[in-house]
Amino acid sequence: MKKVHNFNAGPCVLPDQAIENSIEALKDFAGTGMAVIEVSHRSKEWSAVMDECRALWKELLNIPDTHEVVFLGGGASLQFLYVAMNFLENKAGYLETGVWAKKAYKEAKGLGNAFAVASSADKNFSYIPKGYEIPTDIDYFHITTNNTIYGTEIRYDMDSPVPLVADMSSDIMSRPVDVSKYALIYGGAQKNVGPAGVSFAIIRKDALGKVSRYIPTMLDYKVHIDGGSMYNTPPVFPIFVMKETLKWLKGVGGVEAINKKNVGKAQILYNEIDRNPLFTGTAAKEDRSIMNVCFVMAPGHEALQDEFLEFAKGQGMVGIKGHRSVGGFRASIYNACPKESVEALVACMQDFEKKFK
Ligand SMILES: Cc1ncc(COP(=O)(O)O)c(C=O)c1O
Repeated sequence: MKKVHNFNAGPCVLPDQAIENSIEALKDFAGTGMAVIEVSHRSKEWSAVMDECRALWKELLNIPDTHEVVFLGGGASLQFLYVAMNFLENKAGYLETGVWAKKAYKEAKGLGNAFAVASSADKNFSYIPKGYEIPTDIDYFHITTNNTIYGTEIRYDMDSPVPLVADMSSDIMSRPVDVSKYALIYGGAQKNVGPAGVSFAIIRKDALGKVSRYIPTMLDYKVHIDGGSMYNTPPVFPIFVMKETLKWLKGVGGVEAINKKNVGKAQILYNEIDRNPLFTGTAAKEDRSIMNVCFVMAPGHEALQDEFLEFAKGQGMVGIKGHRSVGGFRASIYNACPKESVEALVACMQDFEKKFK
């Protein structure tokens, strides 16, 4: 297979080891003589996969006993609704930092009283709002820690006077997280923890049971905790690949080690964006994401955008076109993206610069 430099925003590059082991499990899973997608999810072999996957989550993120992790279908977008269903009684506050935050907020508004505590919509979400106060009379405060489309990130665990809920779809497992600070952390798997088709939720158990509404069975986090993520048939193959992805992460040193690598990779690319006169970054420097690096042609060079895209494509770069709401370029450099790919992109930007000198 021809190897490319994969900067897709999700689904995205996954560790070779995870893909190879998953292919093996499609041929013969745990000596059962069946593919992993053919065995019963009630079998002891499958239970062992679920147990290992849960244990890896707990070990890698140091999840305390107060919390439980569940694996669900429906993606992060369905969890926007889960959040409101399970936590919204009177009022909820949202930090409006982009399209995904707005979509989460929309689901809460559909169910009750929700409002934006602060927003960066005034500058097309190119920064993280600061200086706001989290109201103390809300049921929860919702943040999106990494704004995949705009390349901004909240890279610390904030203090909140009310239950803190975080969509960590695109930066989960990229850095150590103090899970005890959150009532809920959720997201889709398809960036750092596996393929599309499964999502995760890390839930503080005593934060549940506080709403008076009827919660439809499949939207009730407690049902999934009690059912060990197998209330209904789980998405077996995505969970298997997730387990293999986390095994790889553990093997390379876990979240502390990957954080160092991620910061290093992002630094290499941001340094080039800041140095190269043809390009300029779009996110406020202090809020730059280490996962999604967004940049555009510098003023005066806008006309070169399509040419750079073609040039980069010719050098094996895949997925660097920016989201349509920002334009320009976005390099998603998740955990499994090798430093060599980042260096190749930097070399490509330098070659392009030479062409126009
Ligand atoms: C931060 C964030 N939240 C939510 C989503 C939506 O995820 P899903 O496609 O799993 O519903 C995405 C997808 O890219 C995302 O980046």
